[in-house]
Formats: sequence, structure tokens, C-alpha cells
Amino acid sequence: MTVAVATEFHMVCDLDEVWEGEVAEFEVAGHDVLIVHRAGGEVVALQALCPHQDISLAEGGFENGVLTCRAHLWQFDSATGAGLNPTDCRLARYPLRVVDGKVQISVEGVVPFRVGA
Ligand code: FES
Repeated sequence: MTVAVATEFHMVCDLDEVWEGEVAEFEVAGHDVLIVHRAGGEVVALQALCPHQDISLAEGGFENGVLTCRAHLWQFDSATGAGLNPTDCRLARYPLRVVDGKVQISVEGVVPFRVGA
């Protein structure tokens, strides 16, 4: 017998609060989450703190789909969270949905990545 377990989604913000081409940081159920509104309309939720030394990626750059940390210029693919420079790190990605213009995410089972952790 299969038992369906409902995933709990948390309200983060109105989609209007993060314009296309912008990012914004939110605290959601104890997680620091970066909402990324990519060119073309895709919305992604990633861990907001750099896996190197916990600097907020909301304070860094966001250009051509690439997130750049302001501290030591590590870069990440905003679509997947994959590390681009260096490539041996990544950002955790959160399940996200947009319902009636509201951005919602789930934090269940998502563990932010931290170098050396
Ligand atoms: S803290 Fe982000 S690159 Fe060092």
C-alpha cells in the first residue's frame, strides 16, 4: 500500500515583489531562501547564503542567469544552483510553485550546501 504524504508549501511573497531579472532574499521556516526571477519568467528558489562563507547572494550580482557572490566572486547557475566557478560546490534548490500570483516553496528535506560541512 502506498501512502501519499502531502508536501507542505510555505507562502514566500507575491510574484510582483520580485521582478523579472531580480532576486530577493526571504526567511522561510528557518531557511534563508533566494527567490530568483529569471529572464523569460522562470522563478527558482535557492539557498540564499553562499556555501563558501555564508554571505548573502542577494547582495551580489545577477547577470545573464549567473549569480555572483560579492565576497570572493564565486558563481552559480541560477537555473539549477550548480557551481560554475568553482564547480565543486552548489546551491540547494527548493521546490517552488506559483499559485494565484503567490510564490510558495517547500523546505522539507532540503539542506543548504556549505563547503567543508
Ligand atoms: S563568501 Fe561567497 S565567494 Fe566567498
